Amino acid sequence: MENRSQWGSRLGFLLAAMGSAIGLGNIWRFPAVAYENGGGAFFIPYLFALLTAGIPMLIMEFTIGHKYRSSSPRAFKRISGGMEWIGWWQVAISFVISTYYPVIVAWASMYAYFSFSQAWGSNPESFFVNEFLNGTDPGVFGSVVPSVLIPMILIWVVVFIILFRGVKKGIELANRICIPLLLVCFLLIVIRAVTLPGALSGLNAFFAPDWSSIMDGSVWVAAYSQIFFSLSIGFAIMITFSSYLPKKSDITNNAFITGFSNSSFELLAGIGVFAALGFMATQTGQEISEVVEGGIGLAFMVFPEIISQMPASALFGFLFFASLVLAGLSSMVSISETYIAGLQEKFNISRRTSVLVGVGLATICSLLYATQGGLTLLDTIDYFINNYGIALVGLIEVVGIAWYVRELDNLQAHADSVSDILLGPWWKFSLRFVTPLVLGYMMIQNLRTDMTSEYMGYPREFLFNFGWTVVIGAMVFGVLITMKKWPNEK
Ligand code: PHE
Repeated sequence: MENRSQWGSRLGFLLAAMGSAIGLGNIWRFPAVAYENGGGAFFIPYLFALLTAGIPMLIMEFTIGHKYRSSSPRAFKRISGGMEWIGWWQVAISFVISTYYPVIVAWASMYAYFSFSQAWGSNPESFFVNEFLNGTDPGVFGSVVPSVLIPMILIWVVVFIILFRGVKKGIELANRICIPLLLVCFLLIVIRAVTLPGALSGLNAFFAPDWSSIMDGSVWVAAYSQIFFSLSIGFAIMITFSSYLPKKSDITNNAFITGFSNSSFELLAGIGVFAALGFMATQTGQEISEVVEGGIGLAFMVFPEIISQMPASALFGFLFFASLVLAGLSSMVSISETYIAGLQEKFNISRRTSVLVGVGLATICSLLYATQGGLTLLDTIDYFINNYGIALVGLIEVVGIAWYVRELDNLQAHADSVSDILLGPWWKFSLRFVTPLVLGYMMIQNLRTDMTSEYMGYPREFLFNFGWTVVIGAMVFGVLITMKKWPNEK
């Protein structure tokens, strides 16, 4: 019997799964997505997506990892030889994401420092793009930006140390520190934000339900994609993490706990972000709709402005950016672990060699984002990877398991044999019908948009080189590496 690394405790596993799930998506993606897709009414499609796709997929991935006790590619291979490439494809997507995640964490750590002096001055948007990143036109890389490169290398060093120390002494320990710290920082922010003048107007705008949105297909697609991204499913992560569970471990209950904690954090972030936006809108006499933003814009352009207008701004700013760093770091570790585990098993090398090779390669690739053109590159790759990576790989994974190898009955029997909660018919129904239908619809909609227009108006050649090539390249890589034999495969 192989001697597989294991989590030290159930809580250790749960914290690691939550650490992966709770990331930048919770803080800067969810609030804006909910607001733009019906506000209070969005909770209906969102909860529906959580219960018919998010948690069922999480249970499926936890079960695959636990049952086959291997990295994602090998777990798929053990289910059926024809599925190994799906695991590698997911690993490749994770690798790509892991090359740009640390850049964002690096920006956030610099901004935590900038908070003390409000280095962004009176025009945070121009500061971010022009002064801090020294940005160039789309498609031009320019030279390396030291104020991004140095913190990024430091982040990589931290990630390297965590992964090098292994599952229990590295990943588990890091999450035991990061997650409680993140909760404390973030709770302080939310308490401060809701007690600011104007906070209520922000919360009203966030929760005001637009019931007509429920009839809109795109709102449902937004709910499902938020759930997929947020729960880190379809990235090989949850399969890898659950492969380190001891034999006697609950699966279904753990999936519910992970799913609901992640969503609770999203709700908390929605409240904190909108209270802060309400404050800013009141200060500047604007409407909430004029100040709402998501993603990079929210964190590095809008929040600095809010921070500047606040009393005790340095502390608030520091806590906000520290939260981004903590949330990002734990997700970053989880995503890198996928290829560490995959390489280790496929090439029969030690964990430490694998960390050295994997993190080394990813660090080299990430240098591209530390250039003047890094922001455009990051934006493009992130967009394509999310639209095609997640939706397509998730679709193929679930169709493969539910329809091609028809493995759901076996997986259900396995999950039920170890879990407190027994799975009802809703589980198979969700995975056979609901998830494939929604993901399929999502893919067609995405393809229609991107085949007929250029994302953000970026040059076509640039989109081809860094958008489509990366997406297709990840899939081709999956197929190619599958051809290499496993060591001592029985
Ligand atoms: N789940 C993380 C979030 O909500 C994002 C993430 C996706 C992290 C994929 C790692 C891999 O931000």
